Amino acid sequence: IKKVAVFTSGGDSPGMNAAIRSVVRTCAFYKIECVGIYRGYEGMIEGDFKPLTARSVKDIINKGGTFLKSARSDEFRTKEGRKKAYDALVAENVDALVVIGGDGSFTGALIFNEEFGFPVMGIPGTIDNDIYGTSHTLGYDTALNTVVDCVDKIRDTASSHNRLFFVEVMGRDAGHIALNVGVGAGAEEILIPEEDLGLDRLLESLRRSKQSGKSSSIVIVAEGDKTGKNVFELKDYVEENMEEYEVRVSVLGHMQRGGSPSCFDRVLASRMGVKAVESLLEGKSNYMVGLLKDEIVLTPLEQAVKGKSEIDHELIRVSDIMTT
Ligand code: F6P
Repeated sequence: IKKVAVFTSGGDSPGMNAAIRSVVRTCAFYKIECVGIYRGYEGMIEGDFKPLTARSVKDIINKGGTFLKSARSDEFRTKEGRKKAYDALVAENVDALVVIGGDGSFTGALIFNEEFGFPVMGIPGTIDNDIYGTSHTLGYDTALNTVVDCVDKIRDTASSHNRLFFVEVMGRDAGHIALNVGVGAGAEEILIPEEDLGLDRLLESLRRSKQSGKSSSIVIVAEGDKTGKNVFELKDYVEENMEEYEVRVSVLGHMQRGGSPSCFDRVLASRMGVKAVESLLEGKSNYMVGLLKDEIVLTPLEQAVKGKSEIDHELIRVSDIMTT
C-alpha cells in the first residue's frame, strides 16, 4: 500500500478531525502518501481529493465537526455511482480507504469492497454510540459531557420554578446518550428505546417523587424512545394526568453534535487512526477499529454493521436506586 485515502461520512461527530489527523500522520510516519476526500462518498464520486501531509492537519485536534466535511450520498447507493468512485480512486492511485463514520458509511464500504476488492478500514464516528465492536464511538464521550452540562443548566431553572422538564436527547434508535446522561445528571426517569417502561410507570414514578418531597424533576427522553409519544405529547399527557406539575420541554438538538472533543475522544481518535493505517499496511481489510476493555481491537466490518450494541443494563438498576 502506497497511498491511503481518508474521509468522513454520515453525521459529523467531535473527534473526527483528530482521527483524520491521526490517519494522516501515521501515513507520514510510515512514509506513504495520504489524500483526503471531501464530502464523503459524494466527493469520492466527483474525485474531490486533496493531498494531506503531516502539516496539513495542524491545529485541528481540538476542533469539532470535520474539516473534510460530510455528506449522505444517494448516488453511491447505485452501482453506477460506485463505479465512478472506483474510477476516481484508481485515477488518483489510491490503494486503500479509511472511512470514519457510522453503520451506513460502513455498509457502503462493505459493498464497495465486495464489488471492487478495494481494501477498507472503518473508524466508528458518531455521537450515538450505536456500533457493535466498540464500547465507545468517536464523539460519544464529548456528546455526553455536552448534554450533561445542558441538563445541569436546565436543573437550575427547573428547581427555581418547581417544574418538571422533559429533555429530549439524540441517539437515533439507541438510548446510550439518554441512559448515561440520565444517571450522570440525576434524572428522575429515563425513557430509552431498548426498554419501554410504559407511561403508567412514568406517572407512578413522578407521583412517588412528588410524595417523597421533590419539587422539581427531570425526565430524559431518547429521541427514539418507544412510548409512542413525542416529548410534547408526553408533556400534555402528564399535565392531563397530574395537576401537581408545571411542565416544560427542551429539545437539545444539534448542539449535541458540536464542540471541541473531550480529551477521551482525542486520545481514542489518535489510537484508532494509528491502528487503522497499521492494519492496512499489514494487509488487513474489511475491519472496523474499536475499543474493547481499553484495548484497540479489530472487528470484521460485516459484524460491526450487523451486530447490535447493547445498552448497559446495570445503569438502569443504578438509576432506579438513585431516584429513591
Ligand atoms: O447519528 C447522529 C445523529 O445526530 C442522530 O443522533 C440523529 O438522529 C441524527 O444524526 C440527526 O440527523 P440530521 O443531522 O440529518 O438531522
